[in-house]
Amino acid sequence: MSELSVQHLLGIKYLNEKDIQLIFETADHFKEVINRSIKKVPSLRDITIANIFFENSTRTKLSFELAEKRLSADVINFSAGQSSVKKGETLIDTVNNILSMKVDMVVMRHPNPGAGIFLSKHVSAAIVNAGDGAHEHPTQALLDSFSIREKLGDVAGKNVVIVGDILHSRVALSNIFALKLQGANVKVCGPKTLLPKYIESLGVGVETDLRKALNWCDVANMLRIQNERLDISYFPTTREYTQQFGVNKALLDSLDKEIVIMHPGPINRGVEITSDVADSKQSIILNQVENGVAIRMAVIYLLASKIK
Ligand code: CP
Repeated sequence: MSELSVQHLLGIKYLNEKDIQLIFETADHFKEVINRSIKKVPSLRDITIANIFFENSTRTKLSFELAEKRLSADVINFSAGQSSVKKGETLIDTVNNILSMKVDMVVMRHPNPGAGIFLSKHVSAAIVNAGDGAHEHPTQALLDSFSIREKLGDVAGKNVVIVGDILHSRVALSNIFALKLQGANVKVCGPKTLLPKYIESLGVGVETDLRKALNWCDVANMLRIQNERLDISYFPTTREYTQQFGVNKALLDSLDKEIVIMHPGPINRGVEITSDVADSKQSIILNQVENGVAIRMAVIYLLASKIK
């Protein structure tokens, strides 16, 4: 029987190509399940999952919770803002207290890069990284690639450009790892100040001219500026950023071909993408969100099957 090569999902960089194919095949099955009139399966009736979020989230938090409930797992939710973390409790104490209530798996979002890796070395539960600072957001990258595969038939050989704040983006890093592993050609595009110096060592191209980048690609993944992680100003004004790196309908219509538009959300409408692009036929933004549930069901199901 096929199984994942890992006990935890800490980042795409710990996965291999077979892991991704297995997750996609499992997600194909769960996507069919969640489109039935009865959207639930009893697979994880004996599993308890804690979603612990130390950072804000809409899509990821709701998507994980729905995925867990569709699999019939017992679910508890924890938000740091309303917890004893505010009284000085450490991450390990917090999680060990949750685990003592017989929890099998922890889905965690945390502002510190590596928080999930740290936790996986100190507690006995399976850990799923739901975004750790500017490091990785593995389930986002999996649902992004799954959505490309669904739209274009395959990820291998496709040209994908990731546009925007690459420096502070966990979505960019996880997408680069996932896309390269599957044989896509990847470029990044944004202001030089928001492109990490090491980026080319990851096997991706750099393009600072948005029109050229869009004319090259099959898919453009538009990122928002991670204002919550900016300590200094990386570009003169938002208006100038939008002029150089924002996608609008006139630009899209003037390209040599029709490209697919993606965005992980939350969108800053009118900054990196205009409403007429976000809501256009070329946009698969809401398909990404729909696929997020199937992908997270697959990840949780496959990790749960490895719990002794
Ligand atoms: N894409 C994403 O991670 O969105 P949230 O921050 O709303 O979870």
